[in-house]
Amino acid sequence: MRYVEVDGFRASAIGLGTWQFGSREWGYGETYARTVAPAIVRRAFELGITFLDTAEMYGFGRSERIVGGAIHDRPADVIVATKLLPLLPLPAITAWRGRASRNRLGVDAIDLYQLHFPNPIVPPRTTMRGMRSLLEDGVIRRVGVSNYSLRGWRVAERALGRPVVSDQVQFSLAHPSPRWDLVPYARERGRVVIAYSPLAQGLLAGGVDDAAVPGRSGAMARRRNPLALERNRRRARPLLVALDEVARAHDARPAQVALAWVISHGNVIAIPGARTIEQLEENAAAADIDLSESERERLSREAERLETALGV
Ligand SMILES: NC(=O)c1ccc[n+]([C@@H]2O[C@H](COP(=O)([O-])OP(=O)(O)OC[C@H]3O[C@@H](n4cnc5c(N)ncnc54)[C@H](OP(=O)(O)O)[C@@H]3O)[C@@H](O)[C@H]2O)c1
Repeated sequence: MRYVEVDGFRASAIGLGTWQFGSREWGYGETYARTVAPAIVRRAFELGITFLDTAEMYGFGRSERIVGGAIHDRPADVIVATKLLPLLPLPAITAWRGRASRNRLGVDAIDLYQLHFPNPIVPPRTTMRGMRSLLEDGVIRRVGVSNYSLRGWRVAERALGRPVVSDQVQFSLAHPSPRWDLVPYARERGRVVIAYSPLAQGLLAGGVDDAAVPGRSGAMARRRNPLALERNRRRARPLLVALDEVARAHDARPAQVALAWVISHGNVIAIPGARTIEQLEENAAAADIDLSESERERLSREAERLETALGV
């Protein structure tokens, strides 16, 4: 495993996303929620994964409860991150919601508390007043944001008056743009970009020869993903071919190369979700793949071409 370290914050470069845990959008069912998901968390610890991401929104709190039930004897260095659903992030509401998440997780303090997305109406200084009081009361240890532009991230930091340690954004070979602004900022300032949907919700994972995409496991979550459309998969073909070829050169799977590319940027933690323990193991092992400069350049070039073609 490889680790990202900034200013007292240390986490595995491959983390674990848990939107899948108990949420209808992924439709993995009850056995998954009750037995597979907790087993995935325990196996993640054995593999050296020290970053777990959840949100109060996932399964209406069920993901937090499942994570909470599986982390009692977690290694001391594990970071548990969750997110506030900021529909009305007034200080009193934020204080109450933060405590509710902490209770569902069953932790003394939430290691990283993130605003799930910017609220267009409530000003950052009001939102951050609530986050600051959670920090001061010891309910949370650090503040992060999610789906923020670089400008929004900076404004949030000014409003908090302390570092906002991370911005969690969509970042993958199908959505490479954070490498131009958020990643350089994180590297310069000792912050972290947390890459969500790093496998484009699984749609990059099979490389070119993925006959089952987009219907695999019928997940609603990815129905709106541009890559689920046949015409866009055709546009993605040069990228998927590159993924396959680079994967073959490393005796690896396309999913692993897709993750290796994301974390190769430095100050980036990728948080793939997993349906099975095997997927988790494969994803964790991606941290050990070193891409050559020419492989990185080829993947980046194809990723940018695809992003331009998709216009997203
Ligand atoms: N902040 C936000 O707004 C936001 C938004 C989205 C997600 N997130 C976070 O980011 C996490 C990850 O994003 P995501 O779940 O959207 O997408 P993702 O991690 O790109 O894709 C996860 C899916 O890919 C497939 N997969 C995973 N590993 C694989 C492997 N090794 N080989 C083949 N297929 C594999 C699985 O689906 P199948 O097996 O069913 O194909 C899995 O459910 C979430 O769990 C959540 O914590 C945050």
